[in-house]
Amino acid sequence: MNGTISETESLISSLISGYEPRDNCQVVVCPPYISLLAAFKLLKDSKIALGAQELSEHKNGAFTGEISAEMLLTVGVSFVIIGHSERRQYHSETDQRVHDRAKTAIEAGLSPIICVGETLSQRESGETKELIKTQIYGALQGFSGDDFKNISIAYEPIWAIGTGKTASPEMAEEVHSFIREQIAEIDKKAAEITPILYGGSVKPDNAKELLAQPNIDGALVGGASLVAEDFLKIINAF
Ligand code: PGA
Repeated sequence: MNGTISETESLISSLISGYEPRDNCQVVVCPPYISLLAAFKLLKDSKIALGAQELSEHKNGAFTGEISAEMLLTVGVSFVIIGHSERRQYHSETDQRVHDRAKTAIEAGLSPIICVGETLSQRESGETKELIKTQIYGALQGFSGDDFKNISIAYEPIWAIGTGKTASPEMAEEVHSFIREQIAEIDKKAAEITPILYGGSVKPDNAKELLAQPNIDGALVGGASLVAEDFLKIINAF
């Protein structure tokens, strides 16, 4: 919940002017719903894709305040974040709902970015892997073959989001490789093609080390994406 329409426009304009597209790197920006149309108008001739921060699992109807996949498609959205920890915490997004939303996204031709991650107390009590396993199975079980073509997973330790505390590259890599193993249990081929992004206080000065890990395929950037120069440095680090 950052940025008015005009602030988003100026951020995206700076991003477009500093961005040098590269074949191995997909850049996506996910502004708040109200800025999507303005963002689309700026991005449509660029190599930067547009994403939303959530969608409803329902097609349409009496779900006041919700936004459907069809609505997102009409404003040029191609990616959608699902199950961000803040949505799980404040908006009762259960693993089942995350699955239903991912399914709705896939059926509509949107690429879901599904978030998983543990709290500090879960990490300290040694529950991280068990929890991640439950979240991965909850979100992905029932998908197969082509369903996996456009899914990304974002591992975001909750204690690292917006706190300035980052998981060390080794800590993050350990969970990322565990996530890949869990995906392989569901679908072997999917494990090879699913990008696993790291999120949680990614900044220009830690991006390179994190992104150099073998199972960290990209980043989900919050605070640092609100400053075009910092976001561009992270893209270049990749
Ligand atoms: P952060 O946010 O980069 O500010 O920690 C990450 C996120 O919101 O997912």
